[in-house]
Amino acid sequence: MSDAVIDKRQVAASFSRAAGTYDQVAELQRNVGNNLLARLPHAACARQLADIGCGTGYFTRALAERFGQPVLGLDISEGMLRYAREHSPDSLGWATADAESLPLRSASQDLLFSSLALQWCPQLPLALAEAFRVLRPGGCMAFNTLVEGTLAELRDAWLAVDGFVHVNRFMPLAQLQQVLAQSGFARWHCEVERHVLHYGQLSELTHELKALGAHNLNAGRPSGLTGRARLRALTAAYEAQRQAAGLPATYQVAQILLFKGLDQV
Ligand SMILES: C[S@@+](CC[C@H](N)C(=O)[O-])C[C@H]1O[C@@H](n2cnc3c(N)ncnc32)[C@H](O)[C@@H]1O
Repeated sequence: MSDAVIDKRQVAASFSRAAGTYDQVAELQRNVGNNLLARLPHAACARQLADIGCGTGYFTRALAERFGQPVLGLDISEGMLRYAREHSPDSLGWATADAESLPLRSASQDLLFSSLALQWCPQLPLALAEAFRVLRPGGCMAFNTLVEGTLAELRDAWLAVDGFVHVNRFMPLAQLQQVLAQSGFARWHCEVERHVLHYGQLSELTHELKALGAHNLNAGRPSGLTGRARLRALTAAYEAQRQAAGLPATYQVAQILLFKGLDQV
């Protein structure tokens, strides 16, 4: 989430609180993760696989099915891991882990998968350096992340109300491409998908963000409760962006494949 200061304990606590509601509202997250799964190289034959930021374990289970191998689900949130463990076959493994400091041996993994988790890392280059370290030569990492333009309507509406940053900041695409180019991987591929969701009411969007555990955790957010007047002003500013289909909420999703060359260690 670019240069924002992110408190990882708060991130973990927020996702733990959302573990029981996440799957009910995660339609976009499913679509985006399924699109990432579809991009995995067909020839990929992987024995050691890990799902970084696995959340409720939906894609951990999907990967296990696709590759016919047990998969290790890693997440910073104990609550998410507990939920994932309770809703998955015993053959899958789970561990608390920070993507920026993986508890895995160097050159031990064939495939790393990560859907909509790495935008929560304060330092994406660190997470990619860790991925590079734990991948075997010839290994592949597939991840997606949110880039600038995501929730732009909500951000603009808040800016019109009080000029504060109330929406998590997302990295500009050019910055992401620079990070990928400097990550040490032999080859990389990045493509952006634009998804626009529509809501009847602003409250439907804000409730959904809360149920996903994805509400604003930027250090620059103002403290205290949202007053009624501010909420009215926010609603009016968002309503000004209403389209025929409803209130739009844009997600810009970068889908990325990284390949560690056989000559790289
Ligand atoms: C939006 S959810 C996505 C979950 C799952 N990948 C999916 O697509 O359904 C983001 C997940 O990333 C985890 N996460 C956030 N920061 C992390 C970090 N630094 N290391 C590992 N996991 C992290 C959160 O706890 C949460 O479970």
